[in-house]
Amino acid sequence: MKPLAALLVSSLHIHCLCLLLRGALATAPAPGAHYKYNATVYNVSAARCAGCVGGGDGTAAGSALGGLGAWAEAVEFLYYHNAVRMARWELPLAWSPRLESYARSWAAQRRADCALRHSFPEGQFALGENIFWGGAGAAWRPGDAVKDWAAEGVDYSYAANACAPGRECGHYTQIVWRRTAYVGCARVLCDDGGVFMTCNYYPPGNVVGERPY
Ligand SMILES: *[C@@H]1O[C@H](CO)[C@@H](O)[C@H](O)[C@H]1NC(C)=O
Ligand SMILES: *[C@@H]1O[C@H](CO)[C@@H](O)[C@H](O)[C@H]1NC(C)=O
Repeated sequence: MKPLAALLVSSLHIHCLCLLLRGALATAPAPGAHYKYNATVYNVSAARCAGCVGGGDGTAAGSALGGLGAWAEAVEFLYYHNAVRMARWELPLAWSPRLESYARSWAAQRRADCALRHSFPEGQFALGENIFWGGAGAAWRPGDAVKDWAAEGVDYSYAANACAPGRECGHYTQIVWRRTAYVGCARVLCDDGGVFMTCNYYPPGNVVGERPY
C-alpha cells in the first residue's frame, strides 16, 4: 500500500500539470486546435474569413461556448463547408459579413424558443438557409451542424437529382451548390441551454429543376 504522503504528492503533481496545460491552451490557441483539420482547407478558409466578425451570438457566454472565439467560430463554419466542397473540386465559399449579420439577427430571435424554424416562409426563400438545433447538455459547435447537413450526401442521387425516398438532402445540396459563393452563419445559446445555428447562402442553391453541380 502506498503511503498517504506519496499519494498526495502524485495527485498534486497531476493537478499542477493540468494547470500548466490549461494555461498554455488559454494563452496560445493553435489555429483550429479544437477540431482535427486539413491544413490546406483550413488555410484557404481562414484566408476567406478576413474581416469576419464571427458567428457567435455576440455575448461572452455565446463565444465561450465550446471555448471558441468569434473569429475561430466563423472559420470553423467555413472550414466544414469548404472541406466538403474542396473534396469535390469545387471552389471554396467565402464568408460574408452581410449574410452573417442576417443569420445573427435570426439566431437572436430564436434565443428564447430555440425552435428549428426557417427565417423565410416556405417557397419564399431569398437566400439559401440551413438550420440546426441541438438539445441542452452538449456544447454544439459549428462542425456538428455542418457535418450533420453534409451527411445527407449519402441519400442524394445525382442521376435522379433526388433523395432516397423519405430522406432529406437539401442541406447537402446547398453546401455543394456550385454557384453558391458566400456563406454567413450564427450560433446562439438558447435560454433553455440548447443551441440554435443558422447559415445563409448566396447565390442561393436548391433551384428547382437544377442540379447542384
Ligand atoms: C497553412 O498556413 C500555415 C501558416 O501560414 C503554414 O505554416 C502552413 O504551411 C500552411 N499549410 C498548408 C498545407 O498550406
Ligand atoms: C486536404 O484537402 C485537400 C482538398 O480537398 C485534399 O486535396 C488533400 O488530399 C487533403 N489532405 C489530407 C491529408 O486529407
